[in-house]
Amino acid sequence: MGKKYSLFVFLLMLVLVLSACSKDDSASGDAGSDDGITEMTLKFSHVVAENTPKHQGALAMKEYIEKESDGKIKVEIYPNSSLFGDQDEYQNLVANNIQFIAPDLSKFVGNNPQFNMPSLPFLFANDEQAIEFWDGEKGQEILSSLTDDGVLGISMWPNGGKHLTNDERPIKEPADLKGLKFRTQGGQLLETIYKTLGAGSESIPFGELYTALDQGVVDGQENTFSNIESKKFHEVQKYMTVMNHTRVDYAIFTNTKFWDGLNDATKEIVEAGIAEGTKVARAEAKSLNDQAYEKLKESGSIEIIELTPEQVEEFRNALAPVYDEYRDVIGADVIDAALEISKK
Ligand code: LMR
Repeated sequence: MGKKYSLFVFLLMLVLVLSACSKDDSASGDAGSDDGITEMTLKFSHVVAENTPKHQGALAMKEYIEKESDGKIKVEIYPNSSLFGDQDEYQNLVANNIQFIAPDLSKFVGNNPQFNMPSLPFLFANDEQAIEFWDGEKGQEILSSLTDDGVLGISMWPNGGKHLTNDERPIKEPADLKGLKFRTQGGQLLETIYKTLGAGSESIPFGELYTALDQGVVDGQENTFSNIESKKFHEVQKYMTVMNHTRVDYAIFTNTKFWDGLNDATKEIVEAGIAEGTKVARAEAKSLNDQAYEKLKESGSIEIIELTPEQVEEFRNALAPVYDEYRDVIGADVIDAALEISKK
């Protein structure tokens, strides 16, 4: 009985060990040690808060890539300038310390003046028109213009129209800006806009903007509702004019060497992840801005000025000359392609 029992236990153990081994084999087969996916951690750095189209797009991209790669590819997102701010995220992308950024295109006018496009006053009426431009031939050419730096523009993500906030007075007509100083995302066309309206401007990194407004370094700034609300600029600004005169639009930029070095299986997943992020960022932009606008109204902490169509027309007329000034800088063909879309 004892011997038979020991034999039984021995056989049972053997069966358990063998079945465990065979399970292990199939697991390594499934995970495909040879599915070709390279294990890696990708870093995505950006400057805005979590409750924004950019961060929601980045989250969708992360979720897709991590799931479809069975966790072999990890995506770390660093929001709120927590890793790098406006000044250094581009250099760190060039150095491949991070693999993705999605900066406001108007910050790249120094690299290529065609990145002034989102700042042409009252050009696109909505996200769809901006998307059509950046997905089109001219937009794609501009996004591909950073290759000398080893940077590749993959896909445009919209945020939306910008609105003016300031701490001095309600702005209802062009003359109301006279003598005020505004923060801009970048120079050139944005600077020209303020100059045309008799105001001054200074380019300040997004991560330093709250303090700059609080300390009165500048009187005001222009941004989307979601950026204003999520960064609490309304706490340090008295007035907001709903203008929609310029836009915040982004592109996903990656390091070309990193991108070209991905094998097919890995690139397929990362590319599909970016497409997923693009879908979400594009779908969420308007509703996140609408929600932020409602929150700003509810906050009661900023006086909101909604312009009449006649008042908007006054700003449009006052800023019309900048189109002539930037026609050659940006390129007549590019501006005409955009105007064609804006008429639809
Ligand atoms: C800003 O700097 O105001 C914005 O462009 C930030 C952003 O990335 O939306």
